[in-house]
Amino acid sequence: MTISMRADRVVVLTGAGLSAESGLGTFRDKDGLWTRYDLNEVATPEGFARNPALVHEFYNARRANCLEARPNPAHEALARLQRAMPDRVTLVTQNVDDLLERAGAVEVIHMHGELTRALCAACGHRWDATRVMEVAAPCPDCERPATRPDIVWFGEMPYHMERIEAALRDADLFVAIGTSGNVYPAAGFVQEAAFAGAETLELNLEPSATVSLFDAARFGPASVVVPDWVAEVLG
Ligand code: APR
Repeated sequence: MTISMRADRVVVLTGAGLSAESGLGTFRDKDGLWTRYDLNEVATPEGFARNPALVHEFYNARRANCLEARPNPAHEALARLQRAMPDRVTLVTQNVDDLLERAGAVEVIHMHGELTRALCAACGHRWDATRVMEVAAPCPDCERPATRPDIVWFGEMPYHMERIEAALRDADLFVAIGTSGNVYPAAGFVQEAAFAGAETLELNLEPSATVSLFDAARFGPASVVVPDWVAEVLG
């Protein structure tokens, strides 16, 4: 089924597949992060309480990879779309890298947090993360040694959900890019958008777990299918 390429209000949800070709890897593909690390140890509040040094080591490595990575043509295409349709493209991402921002995108909604931000587990203060984060680093506000990455871990509430749900209710086109559709609430956004009357499109290397919920799907690497799709929308 094809969908009309005319869109007034677009919501784009991106996942790890958007940044895969920038070298940041994914979680559930072959040799993905969750095949090499136990997510219970490095991506849960309980894991952080048990072994904060291991969690900092994990995110320090991902932060270093992110700083070395470069935006790929898919990040650049989404920034181009946003510039061409000001205030009509909402970029929601599950990714914690800043490659969309470095490609020129603005107001990116990071529902799973950001590698570039730190959070105090004691008082909730947030600040720009140092390149290397350490267990004993005192919070700049309450001075307690409770610094953690500002990342939403399993079992924690994703950020900006009201803003995301308002955008989904208002969208006439919802596009999911490079996400496996395994993790909620993000995996349910396609249904919320469809319920509100939006057309829905999946762009992925291969069918996601939720591909049957989309009106249309296109397969290929994000660095190819995303610029092609953006070129079609911008005519
Ligand atoms: N181009 C497009 N899509 C790709 C590419 C590529 N080059 N490479 C991989 N993909 C797709 C895969 O087909 C898969 O659908 O990216 C998706 C990666 O899926 P996951 O590894 O599950 O990543 P994601 O969907 O973003 O995970 C969601 O799970 O672990 C949590 O918080 C973490 O934000 C993450 C969330």
